[in-house]
Amino acid sequence: MIHLHLTTIVIAVILYVIALVFYMKDSPNNAGKMSHMILRADYIFLIFSGLLVYVQNMEGISASDGHMMYGIKVLLGIAAVGLMEMSLIRANKSTSAPKGMTIAAVALIVVTIGVGIYLPLGPLSAMF
Ligand code: HEM
Repeated sequence: MIHLHLTTIVIAVILYVIALVFYMKDSPNNAGKMSHMILRADYIFLIFSGLLVYVQNMEGISASDGHMMYGIKVLLGIAAVGLMEMSLIRANKSTSAPKGMTIAAVALIVVTIGVGIYLPLGPLSAMF
């Protein structure tokens, strides 16, 4: 399930950048709208796979010392998705350069990836 999580993250980041670039070029923009719609479908798999990784490893997580970090990881992930969506809606409304919401979304994505790698499950954690 962690592999599905990683796949959906990669797809989400790519689609987010594409939608943002198209929305910034001109708005309303069909290419931007289309990538945004596919991104919204991807959010479902992203959140679902993350929750499933959490639930499937619940026993090990409860027994570990750092179980609070898993809760923080889940909240960060959901907040990152929320900020990505809000920043795209903002970008769709104005064609100007990315502002606070986009910077916050990118910062939260980076922090979420950092916490995900710091936590022990998954192939990325195994690499470090
Ligand atoms: C944009 C949003 C998200 C990003 C960028 C992200 C990123 C990551 C990354 C990089 C990993 C580590 C994978 C590995 O080590 O191979 C991970 C693991 C995980 N993610 Fe996410 N995630 C996001 C959203 C979510 C959501 C919404 C949830 C839950 C609802 C979630 C729950 C988890 C859990 C439980 C793990 C396993 C933690 C561990 O590595 O031990 N994530 N995530």
